[in-house]
Amino acid sequence: MLCELGFLAVGGMRRMAIRSFVALELSDEVRERLTELLKRLRQTNAAVKWVEPENLHLTLKFLGEVQEEQIEAVVEALKIVAQVTEPFPFTVRGVGGFPDLRRPRVLWVGVEPTPPLMRLQQIVEQAMEQLGFPPEERDFHPHITLGRVKAVAGLEKVRAILSEYIGVTFGSVPVKHMTLFRSDLSREGPTYTPIALLPFL
Ligand code: 2AM
Repeated sequence: MLCELGFLAVGGMRRMAIRSFVALELSDEVRERLTELLKRLRQTNAAVKWVEPENLHLTLKFLGEVQEEQIEAVVEALKIVAQVTEPFPFTVRGVGGFPDLRRPRVLWVGVEPTPPLMRLQQIVEQAMEQLGFPPEERDFHPHITLGRVKAVAGLEKVRAILSEYIGVTFGSVPVKHMTLFRSDLSREGPTYTPIALLPFL
């Protein structure tokens, strides 16, 4: 129960942990296009937990549980990263799955791994590592998660729809800031709330 509330009992003290991640938000235009796609995918009734349109984002770094008193240091470090980052666009194109579309656990739309995006992810990663967050072991493969597969039921229909979008461009997103989000999990699904917006230079 205590853990569900985000409290950790440490030597009689209660410390609040905030599940957090750093992400880029989408433009209304791209969000709308992905919402249309999600609507079609939902209609397959496949055993997939689809992401709610308002929750769609591009994750740069998943931090996991961050102690409340550490949030300020995280925000300060991200501010410094943002201040050396020029605004850039990213292009949302194509679809795929992790580990692949044959036996996917995660279904996503792709994001072009352009140098400004890859560099930003790298410096966010380094900045967070300096604060003690464990480095990501997997290569960064920029993507926007559409859904998480629960069982294979109905996946054929999902694949058929996704195959129409191979190589399709959903749009370009101008990025002027990054966002530190908190993630609150519940039975109804996660709620993502911005903690801080870090504007680029
Ligand atoms: P994703 O980027 O593949 O969608 C919030 O949970 C976000 O952080 C999600 O977008 C999620 O996956 C990403 N994330 C990365 N590693 C995670 C992990 N170990 N647990 C939960 N979410 C993680």
